[in-house]
Amino acid sequence: MKITVIGAGAVGATAADNITRKELAEEVILLDIKEGVAEGKAQDISQTAALLGFDTKITGVTNDYEKTAGSSVAVITSGIPRKPGMTREELIGTNANIVKSVAENLLKYSPEVIILVVSNPMDTMTYLTLKATGLPKNRIIGMGGALDSSRFKYQISQHTGASPSDLNAIVIGGHGDTTMIPLIKHATWNSIPVTQFLSAQQQEQVVADTMVGGATLTKLIGTSAWYAPGAAIAGMVESIVRNQKKLFTASVYLEGEYGEQDITLGVPVIIGKNGAEKIIALQLDEEDKAKFRQSAEAVRSMNNVLSESKII
Ligand code: LAC
Repeated sequence: MKITVIGAGAVGATAADNITRKELAEEVILLDIKEGVAEGKAQDISQTAALLGFDTKITGVTNDYEKTAGSSVAVITSGIPRKPGMTREELIGTNANIVKSVAENLLKYSPEVIILVVSNPMDTMTYLTLKATGLPKNRIIGMGGALDSSRFKYQISQHTGASPSDLNAIVIGGHGDTTMIPLIKHATWNSIPVTQFLSAQQQEQVVADTMVGGATLTKLIGTSAWYAPGAAIAGMVESIVRNQKKLFTASVYLEGEYGEQDITLGVPVIIGKNGAEKIIALQLDEEDKAKFRQSAEAVRSMNNVLSESKII
């Protein structure tokens, strides 16, 4: 089995590192447009094999899509990351053309590939990948919810002292500072509602801090975060290649689910060997339903930019 990661920036390289350490495939290809970067980072990762004890082979290439041939899963992280003060949405002009050409190149050599889209604005880039490739909807998955849900659990753990892995909590909606919806009323600490442990004010704080989780890190670091994004990508890839059928929230194509059509947006979905295998319905109250509608509206207006600028 072969897994390809496109983009050897911090997010792509960290994802490739996690995928390689976990031995999720015999071979990992890391591709970048900048001469030498993917080759160098792949070699650096390879040189941890003796220390960490893995046998997965990782190869870096400069724009050589032939080397990606026959990939089962590909992760697209290409494009520019955000700088402090920028929203993910401001990246659309630059990243749309990059993501479109990457997706087309990938498909040329790997007709059976399942694509995980990470580039921002992620929901719109996922929609673009779906429309540009014409692939069945189960094979295009946007990675946002897995990361945002992990950040949500971190925030809950900060206020409750719970071990993050003891928590069950998901974020649905868009992967944007104002479009994501951390479902605090549904979150539990080993089946016990976390609302039992948090004051109303703490709950509000947890939700607000989760929504700007990425922006907070961008401000601190000076660029977009990579450790949690890389781990979230590897977790989803693992569920595909090991057919774990884990339930993540991910940006997938909706055809009436959650009251929305012709959009990719974060909802609970089972991830297995066929990609996004089944969207799970979750009963939302009126407040969360309204938030989901608003989130869809914001993402849809972003998607409209694609047709207005004749990208799709
Ligand atoms: C973040 C980027 C990956 O949220 O969107 O850190």
